Amino acid sequence: MRDSHYQDYLSFLRFASVSTDEQYRDKVAACADWLVKKLEGIGLETRLVPTKGHPVVWAHNKLQPGRRTVMIYGHYDVQPPDPLELWDSPPFEPVLKNGYVFARGATDNKGQILAHILGVQEAMEKDGDLPVNVHFVIEGEEEIGSGNLGPFLSEHKNELKCDVAVVSDTGMVAKGVPTLSYGLRGVTALEIKITGAKMDLHSGVFGGAVANPITALARLLATLHDENGHIAIEGFYDKVKPLEDWERKAWRALPIDGDKAILEETGSPDLFGEKDYSTLERLWGRPTAEINGIGGGYQGQGTKTVIASHAMAKLTFRLVPDQDGDEILTLAEKHLKKHLPPGVTMEITRGHSGPWYLTDPHSEFGEAALRALKTVFGKEPAVIREGGAIPIVSQFRTILGVETLLLGLALPDCRAHSPNENFPLENLEGGIRLNKAVLAELAKK
Ligand code: BES
Ligand code: MN
Repeated sequence: MRDSHYQDYLSFLRFASVSTDEQYRDKVAACADWLVKKLEGIGLETRLVPTKGHPVVWAHNKLQPGRRTVMIYGHYDVQPPDPLELWDSPPFEPVLKNGYVFARGATDNKGQILAHILGVQEAMEKDGDLPVNVHFVIEGEEEIGSGNLGPFLSEHKNELKCDVAVVSDTGMVAKGVPTLSYGLRGVTALEIKITGAKMDLHSGVFGGAVANPITALARLLATLHDENGHIAIEGFYDKVKPLEDWERKAWRALPIDGDKAILEETGSPDLFGEKDYSTLERLWGRPTAEINGIGGGYQGQGTKTVIASHAMAKLTFRLVPDQDGDEILTLAEKHLKKHLPPGVTMEITRGHSGPWYLTDPHSEFGEAALRALKTVFGKEPAVIREGGAIPIVSQFRTILGVETLLLGLALPDCRAHSPNENFPLENLEGGIRLNKAVLAELAKK
């Protein structure tokens, strides 16, 4: 790979473009500015579009009638880097070790979207143009639910008219195994606040006389699942579409041992989850209810004999076809109200949500993507669903009327969202070749 590509990658990674935290606002903006310059530099007409949140970077080549139009989507925002002490090197000072670059965003999503940009750069340098019309839409709010991107798509619906979207923000089942994903889980969030007394109390003076909000919260959260990992919210599974036989069969035949890989990667002492489903089925085809955070009471050194006034928890639900995020939140609220222990009050706040996505991997465009993957990586592609969410993908369908090709380059051990996130240069290079191959395949009519 050219040194200038590597330098671009390092420059992109040095921006601490954390979208969720106000403190990083300038860094997010600077990152967007860098992208604008980069895209202009390779000869694309580029705009920085402000939103109510972080700006969208939008770039396109000369749009010519009579040929296909492809939208390439990615995100320049990243997850917070903490806990910082668990990183072997600072998250925004990328380092190269044994062919892997370590930095927050290395995989999710800077390495993957940059591969597309560099692929386009190489093709434009070589041929003066691309075989298709291309729109890059690169947003700064994917990690916080893409709330302002839908309005952007609606507002520019006509100008963004395209035939298909291409997104590299998912995974490869193993290094060197090209992967086409045809499904994503959705996600929806809520926050619970439980209140007891009007202030923290002396647990000797008041303990036994009033309810403890943390105990109440613990009991409440324990009602979410049964002992087999099945979610106990009434109606939760009503709309869940069973996995198709062909999918269960195809996933069993993948060249990976999902159980072993996950045990190794996570360091968990054992696997756990819903009965009667394999690990991959639970990850890609079944919904979950997760407690992402919990708090309340004294967290400092030593002991403090206190009954806290409040306790809180943050929950998310991973959704699968045909569950609806709002309906699930309504069912969850009903469940939580019904099971709230006595002596406390509860406030529930709804958070962001993003729908699931499911498409046909063998559509005309899907087949084009499969050919490109096979050419570039020299292997038969794995065809899978994913557990993660990319909230905007379902709106590419509802607003722009196009399907999305999910051509992920993330490796199972990339540590996205975790300390020591990394991406091999081999995949940056593979991604550059994949971009050129997929645009060439999509150009064919
Ligand atoms: N790239 C991920 C999504 C992903 C990860 C898809 C792994 C498939 C496999 C994306 O950046 C992400 O993390 N999305 C969030 C969305 C949420 C914040 C609304 C997610 O899934 O938690
Ligand atoms: Mn992410």
